[in-house]
Amino acid sequence: MAVNLGLTKVAQRVNRHLLRLFTPTVGEAAERAARDYFFDVYVRERLYRQEFFSNAFKALRFNGIDGDYAEFGSWGGLTFALAFRESRRRGHHANLWAFDSFQGLPPAQVEADEHPEWRAGRLATTLEEFHASCAGNGIPRTAYTVVPGFYEDTLSTLSVSDEPTNIALAYVDCDLYSSTQAVLRFLEPRLKHGMIVAFDDYFCWSPSQISGERKALLEFTSDQEKWEWTPYMQFGWHGTSFVIEDKSLTETSRAHAREQPRYRLLAAAAVLYLVMPFDLIPDFIPIVGHFDDAIVIALLLRLLKRDWSNMFPRLPGVRRTASEGQIA
Ligand SMILES: C[S@@+](CC[C@H](N)C(=O)[O-])C[C@H]1O[C@@H](n2cnc3c(N)ncnc32)[C@H](O)[C@@H]1O
Repeated sequence: MAVNLGLTKVAQRVNRHLLRLFTPTVGEAAERAARDYFFDVYVRERLYRQEFFSNAFKALRFNGIDGDYAEFGSWGGLTFALAFRESRRRGHHANLWAFDSFQGLPPAQVEADEHPEWRAGRLATTLEEFHASCAGNGIPRTAYTVVPGFYEDTLSTLSVSDEPTNIALAYVDCDLYSSTQAVLRFLEPRLKHGMIVAFDDYFCWSPSQISGERKALLEFTSDQEKWEWTPYMQFGWHGTSFVIEDKSLTETSRAHAREQPRYRLLAAAAVLYLVMPFDLIPDFIPIVGHFDDAIVIALLLRLLKRDWSNMFPRLPGVRRTASEGQIA
């Protein structure tokens, strides 16, 4: 009897341990489900792109950069729908443009187009399917324009004055080197200060090639004199973006920064001159002895007035006026 009781207790204890081991708590089950969801590669890619569009349209709206959204490679309409939704959510009323063959990828034209995932004809969506996807995502027909056809037949025939002429956000998602080259040629006369250009496949390289989009951009920017491509946001494992800035503005800022040590040196030399009793006109000579000091003080004040902020850069977080603190 006693042996029986002992065995029952042991069995119950083992049972409890097994139950604890194999029955996850509600919290654990929820965590596992959330992890499975958020680490699903397609979910993550969508969320990162959505975050990019949200930030980009917020930045464009906040900084007063108006213009259209032009997408090069629209396929199933995923990024198109994200761009529409986030632009509206952020109060940026960009018209949308979709440039795509609607016949999938073109054949590789050069070696740099080779990639293990991209074959001619892949990623084909018909125009009707694309319109249906837009309707399903609540994009009114009046909010967007479609330019169907291979870029070699569409983009290359559009002149500088053809719409879209004012682009706030260009989204390059056409995978291939040659296709990206055609897009960049089209964008070149349409680049403007403050716009954003994103590359969805910037980090899609292959065993023998660097990323086609990156290669095309590297070549394109190598002789760009007017525009600075300032890195903006990277999104997901694959994409990145740039803010286009007028080089004459960035160069002015760099020149200012180079002048800072010179200003400080001049100010220090002027102060030294003022405290020295034996200078050009020795200070012990009544009245006349301070003429040279007065000239140095005048020059020093002029220098201070001209570039006060360069000589004494503000500490981070220090505001000069209340309105400077208004960050949305
Ligand atoms: C990766 S898909 C775009 C995905 C899309 N952004 C989305 O979210 O569903 C690439 C697209 O680029 C298009 N494409 C690539 N090269 C092209 C070219 N030279 N002319 C026209 N379309 C091109 C293909 O037709 C394909 O639909």
